[in-house]
Amino acid sequence: MHLPKAELHLHIEGTLEPELAFALAERNGVTLPYATTDELRRAYQFDDLQSFLDLYYALMAVLRTEEDFTELADAYLTRAAAQGVRHAEIFFDPQAHTARGVPIGTVVEGLGRALERSEETHGISTQLILCFLRDLSAEAALGTLDAARPYLHRISAIGLDSAEVGHPPAKFREVYEAATALGLRKVAHAGEEGPPEYIREALDILGVERIDHGLRCMEDPELVARLVADRVPLTLCPLSNVRLRTVDTLTDHPLPEMMAAGLLCTVNSDDPAYFGGYAGDNFDAVRDALALDPEQLRTLARNSFEAAFLDHDEERRAR
Ligand code: HPA
Ligand code: ZN
Repeated sequence: MHLPKAELHLHIEGTLEPELAFALAERNGVTLPYATTDELRRAYQFDDLQSFLDLYYALMAVLRTEEDFTELADAYLTRAAAQGVRHAEIFFDPQAHTARGVPIGTVVEGLGRALERSEETHGISTQLILCFLRDLSAEAALGTLDAARPYLHRISAIGLDSAEVGHPPAKFREVYEAATALGLRKVAHAGEEGPPEYIREALDILGVERIDHGLRCMEDPELVARLVADRVPLTLCPLSNVRLRTVDTLTDHPLPEMMAAGLLCTVNSDDPAYFGGYAGDNFDAVRDALALDPEQLRTLARNSFEAAFLDHDEERRAR
C-alpha cells in the first residue's frame, strides 16, 4: 500500500535480504552455512523471538565495512520508498557489530552516508536510533553509549531490543538516565514476549516516549487506559508477530481491538527481510486479514506521523 507513512520500528540489520547477504559474504570472504539464497530462505521458520535472533545475529557476519552498511541502508530506503514510506526512524544494534570487531564508527558512518542523502535520493527523511541489547549487561550498554559519543550528531534516540524475557527495562535505568542527560530521546521494546509489567517499567523507570510492540498491554486494562490517556504510541509489527508466534495467525491479531480501545497504534515491519514484508506489505496484510476500512488505514498512517520524532514543520513536509 502506497499511503504516505512513517516507519518507526525497523531494525536495519533485519533488512538484510538473502541476495545482499550472499553478495557481501563473497566480497568479504565470509562463508555462510547455506549454499544458496533459497536454502537460506528455507531457514526462516521461527518458533519464537530467540530462534529468529540466532539467525539474525549469525547473518550479520557479512556486514564488515562502511560501504556494506551504506548498501544495506540504501537497499532498505529503496524498498521503503516504493511502499510509501516518507520518514523512517531506524534502529541499529552496535553491540552486535562491535562484538565481531567492527567498530561503532564504521556502522554509524556507513549508515549515515546513506541516510544523509536519503531525502534527496529516496524522498525519505530519517533518524537513527541506537539500540542496546538487553541480554547483555547494563555495564556493556553504558560502554556502548560512551563509544557512541563522537557520533551523537547522527543519533536521535536510544532503544532496547533483543531477548526480552528475563531482561526487564529496570536493568537499564542508568544508561537511560545518561542518555537523557545527553539530550537523546527514548524508546524501548516491551510487551512483545515480556509481560505488561515491562511496559510499565519502560514508562516509569526509563521514561520512554514510545513502546515498541507493546502488544501484551491488552492483558492489563488499567495499563491500556493509561496508554490511551497519555497517547503513548505503540509501534506494532503484525507480520513479525505472526512469524515469531506472538499471535497464531494474522486474523487473530488484536490490532482492531487496540484501535477501538483508543490506543495510538502504528504499523511497521520490524525485520522485513525475515518476516515477509516491508511497511506497505504490513498495511496490506492487516487490511486483508482484519478487514480494516480506508478510514482505519488512514488513521494508522496519520498516527505514524504523530508518533514520529518530528517537529511540526518536518511533519508537514513528510506527510
Ligand atoms: N524484538 C526484539 N529484538 C529484535 C527484534 C524484535 O522483534 N528484531 C531485531 N531485534
Ligand atoms: Zn523490533
